[in-house]
Amino acid sequence: MTSEEAAVEMSRLSSELEKHNRLYYVEGTSEISDREYDEMFRTLELLEDRFPEHASANSPTKRVGGEPIDGFEQRAHDVPMLSIDDVFSEGELGEFFTRLQKNLNAEKIPVTIEPKIDGVAIALHYENGELAYAVTRGDGAVGDVVTENIRTISHLPLRLGADAPAWLEVRGEVFMPNAKFAEMNEARQEAGLATFKNPRNATAGALKLLDSREVAKRPLDFVAHGRGRIDGDVPASEKDFRDLLEKFNIPQNKPVYNAETFEEVVAAVERLDVERHDLPCATDGAVIKVNDVASRDQLGSTSRAPRWAAAFKYPPEQKETVLREISVQVGRTGTLTPVAELEPVLVSGTTVSRATLHNQDEIDRKDVRVGDTVIIEKAGEIIPAVVKVVLEKRPDSSEPFNLFNAVGGKCPSCGEPVVRPEGFVALKCNNPVCPAKSANQIKQLVSRKALDIDGVGTIVAEKLVERGVVNTIPDMFTLDAEMLATFNLGTDDEPRMLGAKNAAKIVETAKRAETAPLHRWLFGLGIPQVGESAARELARLHKDFGELRNSKILPVLAEMKTGDRKEDNPEIAEFEIASEVGPTVATSMLTFLESEAGIVLLERLAELGIDPQSDNYAPVPPKGEEGAGGVAGKTFVITGTLSAGRNEFKERILSLGGKVSGSISGKTDYLLAGEGGGSKRDKAESLGVEVISEEEFEELAGS
Ligand code: IVH
Repeated sequence: MTSEEAAVEMSRLSSELEKHNRLYYVEGTSEISDREYDEMFRTLELLEDRFPEHASANSPTKRVGGEPIDGFEQRAHDVPMLSIDDVFSEGELGEFFTRLQKNLNAEKIPVTIEPKIDGVAIALHYENGELAYAVTRGDGAVGDVVTENIRTISHLPLRLGADAPAWLEVRGEVFMPNAKFAEMNEARQEAGLATFKNPRNATAGALKLLDSREVAKRPLDFVAHGRGRIDGDVPASEKDFRDLLEKFNIPQNKPVYNAETFEEVVAAVERLDVERHDLPCATDGAVIKVNDVASRDQLGSTSRAPRWAAAFKYPPEQKETVLREISVQVGRTGTLTPVAELEPVLVSGTTVSRATLHNQDEIDRKDVRVGDTVIIEKAGEIIPAVVKVVLEKRPDSSEPFNLFNAVGGKCPSCGEPVVRPEGFVALKCNNPVCPAKSANQIKQLVSRKALDIDGVGTIVAEKLVERGVVNTIPDMFTLDAEMLATFNLGTDDEPRMLGAKNAAKIVETAKRAETAPLHRWLFGLGIPQVGESAARELARLHKDFGELRNSKILPVLAEMKTGDRKEDNPEIAEFEIASEVGPTVATSMLTFLESEAGIVLLERLAELGIDPQSDNYAPVPPKGEEGAGGVAGKTFVITGTLSAGRNEFKERILSLGGKVSGSISGKTDYLLAGEGGGSKRDKAESLGVEVISEEEFEELAGS
């Protein structure tokens, strides 16, 4: 085959594959078998291998994702990505409509009404009909270029064809269909991976992945609802714009209703509130837009939002159901949380069968009792809440619920007595080896921001603890790969082995985690109040656990009263302690270090030869001429191509006590810029942020 012939064949295969993609994903039909599809796909892959000069970035083969990248490039939006003003009542909606009437000097205002999608905003740039950039909203002025990740969305045309405008920027939302989200979460749970809270979080997380092959495994989807830059014929109305989308097979946000009077708008908004629950994605409102572009231009925009659009926000959906039982969960720190076990009901598209009741005070305040009919709602998040009790439906026999009595004063997990610490609303189990606590502690320890131990998710952690293989944190470091390989994750009746590969991965990453820096350990131990930033600051002030135990700083901090300033205290002023570490964190740290459980834990780690060291130890920040500037305390943004990955630079900056941010603002001290990285450079210059090269950075870092 000659190169020319190959080019023709490759283009034919691409169009065919795209057509079948569309038929399958958009129209739900298919004209060819999976085998035929696979065959075409593989032929195209082969040809792309042999004739790379004709391989396009927008080939259907690229939808499965490509090589991982170091970080995202930034791109300035040609037209700012604005917000929409929210209205929360019919009254406010009326005010919006009256404003339109007044400013456009007309009685009837043709508008469209469509769902507000609870997804992640994205701008798709088609240059000469080819998808060239997909950019996140970012701060509205500059966003991340996530084109590779967006290419994995199978519904989305990557090529528009010959009669596309020279430049077409379509804006819309990336989302994860509710049903696919639920499936994915279940599969992740099964595999022992962390689950996502809601489809929006899962979507945002997927878009941030640097490995598009991973993104391809996430069921993302897209609908268009707006436009940015267009070089070519600009549509004169919403209707024309939608015709354009239709012509190029770009999925559009539906349903869309037309209205001209306020009454019609209200009717459409109400109708949409019913229909939106049948949509595949989460919605939280209705967007009302003036139809014709001339009127939009006349109305204009504020710096925040256009005056020609408004989003009517629907109140969170409420449902009535019966509370069958109140169960009690034991958290990582031993806190007992009452959970309402409900008669399952469908709320905002997902089945709800549990809701948190927080603590005894909350139960008392709402007077929630077993057998009650309750109103539940899901406000934004997936985790539902009990709003109130329908008292008229309360059974005569019902009794107030008392958490302490319900558990007989004992931890439901380990049977040890529970206590209500002074000043706390919650009951706690203080048994350091309580299995419920242990499982949650292990989950925290292995989490990505802590020791990042692969292959241990919720199920694995719970089973390891339940079966007594792991009782406390140090046990994670004595695991035996051979034993783990046959470890049963299922039940006795239906056993399911962990498998040799997973076992080896766990043991291997646990081994590596032993030498993880001190701040990761501190965060991973799950000491109350010690979050990620506090852990870093503690590790800046102390070089290892030994120093923490003999800390001169912690007792002084713990003694501080509200209103005391660290910089005024001569004993600790020189350490310039960040706001993340104050009396609360210090007290909690000391309580841990002095507790029986804490002492035993650190002793066992020492016996195992685990002695994590701080990688950002710098208790007294450098002073005077030579230290002025430096990295500590400074905020960096990194862009362009550097001699090593951006993450490597990020880690170094953090370990030197600096901060790294994703976008440039007035608070940025330096833009560390490699090759390229144009838009960030421009923004830095316009904000007067100092731009430094890699060499200048090395000087600052003192290496
Ligand atoms: S139109 C400048 N239509 O909501 C206004 N936006 O809160 C043009 N959104 O950033 C946007 N559904 O990403 C429009 N049907 C819809 C929408 C929608 C969701 C997002 C959009 C915007 C955000 C503002």
